[in-house]
Amino acid sequence: MSAVGDWTLGQYRVRALIGVGGMAKVYRGYQPTLTRDVAIKVIPTQDPRGAGQGRVEFLRLFESEARLIAKLAHPYIVPIYDFGVEHDWAYLVMELVTHGSVRDEMVRARASGQRVNLLWTLDILDQVATALDFAHSRGVAHLDVKPGNMLLRELNMVVLSDFGIARMLADRNGRAGGAGVMGTPQYMAPEQTVPNGPVDGRSDIYALGVVLFECVTGRLPFLGETSEAIMLQHRDTPPPSPRSLEPATPLVVERIILRAMAKDPKARYARAADMADDLRHARAELAQTLPQAEFPLIAQRAAPTSTIDLAGGGAAPAPAAPAAAPSTPPAPPAHNGAEGNARCFRCGAVNPALARFCLTCGYDRASTRASADTYHAMSGRPLRCRLIFQNGQFAGRPLMLHQGVTTIGRGPGNDLLLGDGSVSRIHARLSFAHGVWYIEDMRSSNGVWVNRKRVKGQLGLRHGDILRFGNLEAVFEMVT
Ligand SMILES: Nc1ncnc2c1ncn2[C@@H]1O[C@H](COP(=O)(O)OP(=O)(O)O)[C@@H](O)[C@H]1O
Ligand SMILES: [Mg+2]
Repeated sequence: MSAVGDWTLGQYRVRALIGVGGMAKVYRGYQPTLTRDVAIKVIPTQDPRGAGQGRVEFLRLFESEARLIAKLAHPYIVPIYDFGVEHDWAYLVMELVTHGSVRDEMVRARASGQRVNLLWTLDILDQVATALDFAHSRGVAHLDVKPGNMLLRELNMVVLSDFGIARMLADRNGRAGGAGVMGTPQYMAPEQTVPNGPVDGRSDIYALGVVLFECVTGRLPFLGETSEAIMLQHRDTPPPSPRSLEPATPLVVERIILRAMAKDPKARYARAADMADDLRHARAELAQTLPQAEFPLIAQRAAPTSTIDLAGGGAAPAPAAPAAAPSTPPAPPAHNGAEGNARCFRCGAVNPALARFCLTCGYDRASTRASADTYHAMSGRPLRCRLIFQNGQFAGRPLMLHQGVTTIGRGPGNDLLLGDGSVSRIHARLSFAHGVWYIEDMRSSNGVWVNRKRVKGQLGLRHGDILRFGNLEAVFEMVT
């Protein structure tokens, strides 16, 4: 392999090492045809130790898994753009995700003696559970759910990576339990620890329970010197109670963890969507009773910084953050509440200079989300969308939304509060991914409707679509 910088894989230029995982390296790369930065995961086609399956067998598995995961198009799943094989390397080309991972957040929090924020954790894991449910409903289990595979597209938006990788590498997993064992010992469901065990989507639910445990208590449920020792505990030892390790853990959160981590898959959540529901409701409840800043021992989340390590590249900024560059035409005036008699970014109302939350729509004007709007439209400006309500309290007032996640509902804890009895406490979620805004029904009573059709799962929106939340109707528009 030649040095990074003049190395190419297919059409892709390999630019810098981002990180090294168990069996693969991830590089930042460049795709000349579409002039975009990408991430490239490079896997040796043969186990360097000479163990496990042969090259032909691996390539067969690699191609079938790559084709399978490329079909998992979902706002919370890292999209696969392409794959290929060159010499002794197989590579997967995917979206470059620039805000690090949940793992990085945990490490950062720990370094300052703190924990990741609980409400943030519940929000992020709700998104992960939604992504898992989507994959499970298509017959695909992840089998390596862990914080390092939860990448942050922006502060409040996660994308799950490495679908299919565990299966590709099942036969060469020497570091874990040997041939036929997939995943990472620290997060492995009991049934995953036995070679060729009966794994399915519920194994992912168990791992998600472990991640929640770790976020809340700051440590893993099972520790051990060797993979085998850890796997044995996942199989035979009941997990410690999170509240025994972190007394501030709310009961409702402990219940979710222990249910997800039941040894018997039948005692877990039957579907990841059920776990997502519980995470969301716990969050809504805690948002009311537990102001973020006052939650003991659990830190406010630090401001975002790119955690991409540009090996040898110095402190270059992450590639996808040009929004603040001077060449960008000015954004609508100050979403930063500290300056001037600013207009609210979202609804356009004029607010007193020091009001942090818009007095009209309640939007956090100091939000960092505007600077995360890095996806540009043809005009060169950040692509944004707006909802123009036809009735209800916001009738006629355009509500601009960021390239992130916006939760919509009647209860506190939502980004957009619709005070109408026909709207459920948690009703819908709008999320932005690679140029598209998706709408999801969060199992509301009266449904989310687009152009008079009820939304099931996720739906990509188009300019001019008519959305309905309960009795409230809004036009969806793209703004460039
Ligand atoms: N699509 C991506 N965009 C940006 N960074 C990524 C992407 N995929 C993986 N990474 C980063 O590359 C590193 C190695 O990833 P990986 O080989 O999957 O190992 P692991 O999942 O065990 O951390 C991790 O730090 C991860 O955050
Ligand atoms: Mg990974």
